Amino acid sequence: MVVERTDPNPSAFIYSLRSVGYSFETAVADIIDNSISAGATKIKIFFQNTDTANPVFAIIDNGTGMDSKQLKEAMRLGSTNPLEQRNATDLGRFGLGMKTASFSICKRLTVISSVKDQKSGACWDLDEIATNNSWDLDILSKTQIKETPFEEFLPKDGTAIVWEKIDRLIDFSAKDFAKEFNVAISSLEKHLSITFHRYIAGEPGLKKISIFINEHQIEAFDPFNTKNPATQILETDEINIDGSKIVITPYILPHHSKTQTDEYERYAGEGGYLANQGFYVYRNKRLIVKGSWFRLAAPGNLTKLARVRIDIPNTMDEAWNIDVKKSTATPPIIIRDRLKSTIEKIMGKSARTYTARGARLHDSSAVQMWEQVIAEGKVSYKINPSHPLVSSIMEKLDPAGEAAFCALLDMIAKCFPTELLFSDYGTKPQDVVQNDIDLDALVEVAKLMIADWIKNGGMSRTDALRALEHIVPFNKHISYLTERLTNDNK
Ligand SMILES: Nc1ncnc2c1ncn2[C@@H]1O[C@H](COP(=O)(O)OP(=O)(O)OP(=O)(O)O)[C@@H](O)[C@H]1O
Ligand SMILES: [Mg+2]
Repeated sequence: MVVERTDPNPSAFIYSLRSVGYSFETAVADIIDNSISAGATKIKIFFQNTDTANPVFAIIDNGTGMDSKQLKEAMRLGSTNPLEQRNATDLGRFGLGMKTASFSICKRLTVISSVKDQKSGACWDLDEIATNNSWDLDILSKTQIKETPFEEFLPKDGTAIVWEKIDRLIDFSAKDFAKEFNVAISSLEKHLSITFHRYIAGEPGLKKISIFINEHQIEAFDPFNTKNPATQILETDEINIDGSKIVITPYILPHHSKTQTDEYERYAGEGGYLANQGFYVYRNKRLIVKGSWFRLAAPGNLTKLARVRIDIPNTMDEAWNIDVKKSTATPPIIIRDRLKSTIEKIMGKSARTYTARGARLHDSSAVQMWEQVIAEGKVSYKINPSHPLVSSIMEKLDPAGEAAFCALLDMIAKCFPTELLFSDYGTKPQDVVQNDIDLDALVEVAKLMIADWIKNGGMSRTDALRALEHIVPFNKHISYLTERLTNDNK
């Protein structure tokens, strides 16, 4: 066998490297991972010249920093072997993130780092690599370090990652760069506030961090709304595989009625509750995947308030298929059954929470069609917006349709002929009766709802039938319905 050394062609290779698939948000998060692994407590993000085609962006931390030798090694692509055992708190794995994340956004990456006020600096410029067709790292002189943008913010111990020649952050053909940049920064803030929320909040056992964007401090966004006492925490499940522990904690978020003004919408997340239900996978307490049932269940109305935290250690990276960007993970086959049974448990509980809402009229265990509202000593009635029949219609409407439908329900309630009812009741009470329900029509509606729960809520047929037992008016005709639905299904 003849062996011929065939190095990658640098100029061709850098363009593939740039297309790993980072977004601006995931790229910055990957850089912040390094800061956290280096023990930083303060991470500051700066940018300037955003109204020009030459913006500059920097992420500066007060971690341990790197000396010149460590910095040179850190700049290398594949600086560490992914198979190497990592410190239990390390957020890295592949020895690539700093470079691939940066190159996804910019063509010039400068890193300056300081240990006990001794500064070192190095720079990769993709244009130079392409021109020279060689991975020649620029080592910065003292003067060059001083000239690096935002150098003055580098602490005595810490690291600054500086991005110049930014060409993949915004659409530079747009008219207003600054506006585009602001949109990017605002979605960055959202992403960081949830990705690192446990670090920002200073969860016990973690070093609390603060992240600033141009001196504005980012607040933690806890997707489980644990501050609200109405959030239900179900029993945790622990799985041990070869000495690695996975902890599964299911949460059911508070119903609309148990939240303050704006709180319900705030915790809905982008795309609403329906889109954000599911597992939230945290690797070393840092969020990797949010709101996915991993195809073990379909997102549905009955589980829309359910979010399940899964904590995994960094020793399971291979088993969970963690990618370089730290933005995807897949549960190993061996735990899929456990996750399925977690979902089943939640479905039961969530269905009860969902169907038990608004049951304020007479039977406290059933969801009513009408709600009694007592405000300022006055009693009125409205159609229960959480009744599954109502909410399943609302979910199928676009925002304008939903608003119109809500207005209609409100109108029906407000125009209810109360006085006429009173007067009829006063004069001929025996003639005032509630219309009989057409049982054939009820069976048809029940069938539609069951089909919806099975398809969109991932419920079993048995659970769906059981849910009907708690919903007015189905609960009043449950034996008839069960018989008809069973016969019709044969
Ligand atoms: N802010 C920082 N402070 C101190 N050291 C850092 C910092 N950023 C990077 N490093 C060093 O550079 C190395 C390479 O970082 P890089 O992000 O490329 O890979 P990684 O973190 O090891 O793995 P991954 O590819 O999974 O992110 C790190 O392992 C770390 O030793
Ligand atoms: Mg890294």
